[in-house]
Amino acid sequence: MAGPLLRRLLPDTATVDADGRCSIGGCDLLDLVALFGTPLFVYDEAHLRARCREAVAAWGDGVAYATKAFLCVAMARLAAEEGMHLDVSTRGELHVALAAGVAPERLVLHGNNKSDDELQVALTLGVGRIIVDSFDEIDRLERLAPSLGARPRVLIRATPGIEAHTHEFVRTGQDDSKFGFTVSTGRADEALTRLRRLDAAGVVELVGLHAHIGSNVFSIASFEAAAEVLARLAAPLGLPELVVGGGLGVPYVRGEEAPTIASWAKATRDALLAGGLDPAVRVTAEPGRSLVAAAAVTLYTVGTIKPLAGIRTYVAVDGGMSDNPRPVLYGSGYEAFLPRATDADRLQPVRIVGKHCETGDVLVAEAWVPADLAVGDILATPVTGAYGHSMASNYNKVLRPPVIFVKDGLPREVVRREVLDDLLANDIG
Ligand code: LLP
Repeated sequence: MAGPLLRRLLPDTATVDADGRCSIGGCDLLDLVALFGTPLFVYDEAHLRARCREAVAAWGDGVAYATKAFLCVAMARLAAEEGMHLDVSTRGELHVALAAGVAPERLVLHGNNKSDDELQVALTLGVGRIIVDSFDEIDRLERLAPSLGARPRVLIRATPGIEAHTHEFVRTGQDDSKFGFTVSTGRADEALTRLRRLDAAGVVELVGLHAHIGSNVFSIASFEAAAEVLARLAAPLGLPELVVGGGLGVPYVRGEEAPTIASWAKATRDALLAGGLDPAVRVTAEPGRSLVAAAAVTLYTVGTIKPLAGIRTYVAVDGGMSDNPRPVLYGSGYEAFLPRATDADRLQPVRIVGKHCETGDVLVAEAWVPADLAVGDILATPVTGAYGHSMASNYNKVLRPPVIFVKDGLPREVVRREVLDDLLANDIG
């Protein structure tokens, strides 16, 4: 939509000076470009910390950051420092969390297809909780845990039969899902029976129920509906813990509104209690996107501007689907602005594309930019902190951008820019 960028799409500490230049964490974005180049992920550390604190305040002890949204050592450390547990769903995420020094008992292991290796490492280290997702996994735990002298705390992942209002690729609560044990078909009950037997035999400690209905959900009603089903399921079990997953959406563009973390937590908790859940049950969640998405902007350099008469204008930048595949994957919308003229009226409709060799390589399909946009300009896309860096690739052998944390006027490079030799690091000819 034409008009200036909505300031509320920028990270918490963003400021704009009298000349219209944008700073985040006290660091001028154009100065950061001079130091680190483009493309560049810039994260507002205060914003990340504030959202983690909000999550801990809203959900209480045990709330876990879903690291798939954005993970590097600095982020894992920050989340742990702010009192969060960490949700990891692969050996790789576990590795990074451990490299950050996060205590294993603060980790929650997820995954619909955990390998023997992943389970063995988790059992040996003593990760805090394992979310059990399949009967095959129960078989594996039964085989591995006793031989390692481990008795893991486990939660069972239930599929509550809820259609979350979000993109179908990131919906997970409906019956037709690769995740969890379906409630409606009785599979969840069967899994509970098996895990109770293993609990009695001292193989596992069954502590609770888990569900996650999807991601980027804007509607409190979806969370409430899931909570009602969960409460009905959990109430008779008498288990001490319930995890309601992540999934809180964030506004990416003008016109989108999302509940706050606190209101998501309150609505969910109220619905659980109304549904008959024992107030003594420890209810927690595992947010990813809502903690990190709006904390970051991505900075690019405009390389070419191609006006196609009567069709549209293509503005190409030096990144693309390799640093943000979300528009291609989900048709996700973003906004764009010029950090040299943050509040400028954006009167020119353009399509912002990357440098990859396919037409689908679109970053912002319907962007509005200031009329004086020129080659060489630095262009920013806000709300790129979640599932951008974490889903980045080397497609076309493009180098992945660095990650900069900014705080109190100081930039800190926490992930360096890839160099050409990184492209050959695994290539053994
Ligand atoms: N817990 C579980 C079990 C999950 O599968 C997920 C996300 C989360 C928590 C965190 O959800 P969040 O709060 O971030 O919505 N790549 C997609 C999102 C995939 C989400 C996968 N699971 C995207 O870019 O929109």
